[in-house]
Amino acid sequence: MSLEINKIGIITSGGDAPGMNACIRAITRTALYHNIEVIGFKQGYNGLIKNKHSVLSSRSVSNIIQRGGTILKTARSDDFRTKEGRKKAFENLKANNIDALVAIGGDGTFTGASVFNQEFNFPVIGIPGTIDNDLFGTDNTIGYDTALNTVINAVDKIKDTASSHGRLFVIEVMGKDAGLIALRSGIATGAEAILIPETTTYIEHLLKKLSNDRKNKKPSGIIIVAEGDDFGGAYKVAEAVKADHPKYDIRVTVLGHIQRGGSPSAFDRVLASQLGAGAINALIENKTNAMVGIVNKELVLTPFEQAIKHNHKINMNLLKLAEILAC
Ligand code: F6P
Repeated sequence: MSLEINKIGIITSGGDAPGMNACIRAITRTALYHNIEVIGFKQGYNGLIKNKHSVLSSRSVSNIIQRGGTILKTARSDDFRTKEGRKKAFENLKANNIDALVAIGGDGTFTGASVFNQEFNFPVIGIPGTIDNDLFGTDNTIGYDTALNTVINAVDKIKDTASSHGRLFVIEVMGKDAGLIALRSGIATGAEAILIPETTTYIEHLLKKLSNDRKNKKPSGIIIVAEGDDFGGAYKVAEAVKADHPKYDIRVTVLGHIQRGGSPSAFDRVLASQLGAGAINALIENKTNAMVGIVNKELVLTPFEQAIKHNHKINMNLLKLAEILAC
């Protein structure tokens, strides 16, 4: 059946990511170019349930391409996890004559979108917006590049003080159950070790490496720990190292939500613009219930169920490279 798209709704949902505003702008302006009206719903799925929205015009998305966060606000909606909540959302979409929904977010957002589509057969198209880069079907998610740059800027600063004091810093980075931020930022900052959830952390291995570093007269160092690593986070790692190397002067830094904020990088602004336009073009071609992504420079669509299956791959060659370079 052919879909006629005259009016769309947009939400940003889950953790905010730099570049979401650039994406809202691209969706809005591409839609208007095709004479499609645009309504922005507030605070993710909660806005659909509570019917909180406003019309987006070309002017209302001016001067936001460079801004972090999301002008539509975001939330992790508990109510949308209930059938009752989803029914209310459907009724409000219908009452507002919305023909399709564009959802910018991560795996939680697309899990909800998939269930919603199955229950109500309502057309949804997804755009990957998360700093974690943990979705299958796109080389990069919106926000990942900016978050990486935020991490390396912070770690570079920490390295100044680490080397001045001859200290070991254990730095925890975000990523939920994925180690992609840790892996790339670890390589980019020349970390002594990188601990990620995709591989088992053998603490003896790390302790031996640190002993060798001391023998090799490395007075300071950086260990990057992904928050989802199986050893239990930066504080646990620091405790284990201190127990084995009492002479090490160790400090822990948990970078936290600083990784989610800030002005998006050039890469994220362009990616967000391409994906925003790509989502509208997909809807016009009657393609829904999928996430739009870019793989090897090509725009591709991946069904929600595949995108969220956590089958994104860690490049083991990069992990090996990090180990070789940290000698
Ligand atoms: O998914 C993005 C992310 O920043 C993860 O890296 C992190 O685990 C999580 O969100 C934190 O979520 P919240 O802001 O709800 O504490």
